[in-house]
Amino acid sequence: SEPFSEKLRVPEALTFDDVLLRPKESRVEPDEADTTTRVSKSVELTVPVLSAAMDTVTESDMAIAMARQGGIGVLHRNMNADQMATEIERVKRADELIIRDVVTASPNQTVREVDEMMEREGVSGAPVVDDDSGEVLGIISGTDIRPYLEVGEDDAVTDAMTDEVVTAPEDVTPREALELMYDHKIERVPIVDGENRLVGLVTMQGILQRREYDQAARDHDGSLRCGAAVGPFEMDRAQVADEAGADILFIDCAHAHNANVIESAREIKAEVDADVVVGNIGTREAAEAVVDFADGVKVGIGPGSICTTRVVTGSGMPQITAVAQVADVASQHDVPVIADGGIRYSGDAIKAIAAGADAVMLGSYFAGTDEAPGRVITMNGKKYKQYRGMGSVGAMNEGGGDRYLKDDEEGEEFVPEGVEAATPYKGSLASELHQLVGGMQSGMGYVGAETIPEFKQRAEFVRVSAAGQQESHPHDVMITDEAPNYSPDS
Ligand code: XMP
Repeated sequence: SEPFSEKLRVPEALTFDDVLLRPKESRVEPDEADTTTRVSKSVELTVPVLSAAMDTVTESDMAIAMARQGGIGVLHRNMNADQMATEIERVKRADELIIRDVVTASPNQTVREVDEMMEREGVSGAPVVDDDSGEVLGIISGTDIRPYLEVGEDDAVTDAMTDEVVTAPEDVTPREALELMYDHKIERVPIVDGENRLVGLVTMQGILQRREYDQAARDHDGSLRCGAAVGPFEMDRAQVADEAGADILFIDCAHAHNANVIESAREIKAEVDADVVVGNIGTREAAEAVVDFADGVKVGIGPGSICTTRVVTGSGMPQITAVAQVADVASQHDVPVIADGGIRYSGDAIKAIAAGADAVMLGSYFAGTDEAPGRVITMNGKKYKQYRGMGSVGAMNEGGGDRYLKDDEEGEEFVPEGVEAATPYKGSLASELHQLVGGMQSGMGYVGAETIPEFKQRAEFVRVSAAGQQESHPHDVMITDEAPNYSPDS
């Protein structure tokens, strides 16, 4: 066998701070840089960003906000399969053209009762529906009600309602619904079946909201895209999430280059309609083991801000090298690559793409936003939100030990691979994501690339010394006003 000392002839592996993008001649203005990408074989996004499957980052609120802005959220799995299905359905329904849970009035109610009900439910109008047959008898709005509140609030709602109702069938398109509204000067159209029974409602507000999010990630039915994490051996959860409409299932494992994990992932892939992204991996050989069936691969062994995998296990792969090695193989098989973890700045995100990733996944960057689960806490006059590793004691106690290929044996002490922490409160996801994507577009501008595929080809790295690294950050000054995209303690 080889002498042990041969092991010390070690290859170099690099991460974000070791490299910079070499500036190149450019005709691309940052605003023109198109960040459209593919995150898995059948899912395209206008924004190449995913929010991490962590219980302090992504539940349905985050997933809705991410998809509206053009990215995608991956729901964590510290909840049972039924709860996950409910979360997926919330995302899928969020921007649905046809509202299914319609607030309705009954013909037996008085004008005052309906007024109170509309106030309570926060709606400005309601179809009046026959209690027995479900047929639409009329429609009532705040405008119809107002004169009755002065005189006759005890009158039946049927006296105040409009009884010539403009309705539409279930296959109405947004355009057709809008035309109906313009032609009849109305703001809501009940959707009915062949027997005039109410099945839903389309509102002007709903249509305009969809227009506001013109970059949104939507499926073929126009619903927002949604990802979901599944454990490496959770066939049941995979089927439930798939059934509920998840677009992508993410095999959620800290070390997916494992024969049992790969076999199980392959079985899951065979059973579901959703795309299946396999991860995490960090080497060329791991990529080779999964590219024949994976719809995407996720890269990251220990780069995360809350990760202790590398110090606890002594194992890991600096992220830029990991991404490049995996991308060498994945690109040959047309499999998209996601760089997961360790991204602190927009510059890191675009470096990951230069190294061969198609999209990036972030946890800590988003954990401080309003849309992340958990409440804002104040310490020493500053606001924070909780952020913890899914391999931390707290998170593992709530499930998911199998991410680290450990049995969750009761009473046994976990060997954690993550920590529990707090992260500065940051306000809305939209503004955080705007800074992130804006910085990435500027990065594309410095390299002179108009699209992500072009950028991946054109980008070149230079190696940075410790002195160069210091030069990169603000230095020799005292920062007085915090920038929205730079924090010295990131
Ligand atoms: P960032 O740096 O964006 O990283 O906060 C988020 C990613 O970190 C991974 N993750 C963990 N890795 N122990 C680990 O070694 C953990 O407890 C842990 N929790 C999350 C995960 O890939 C996530 O997307």
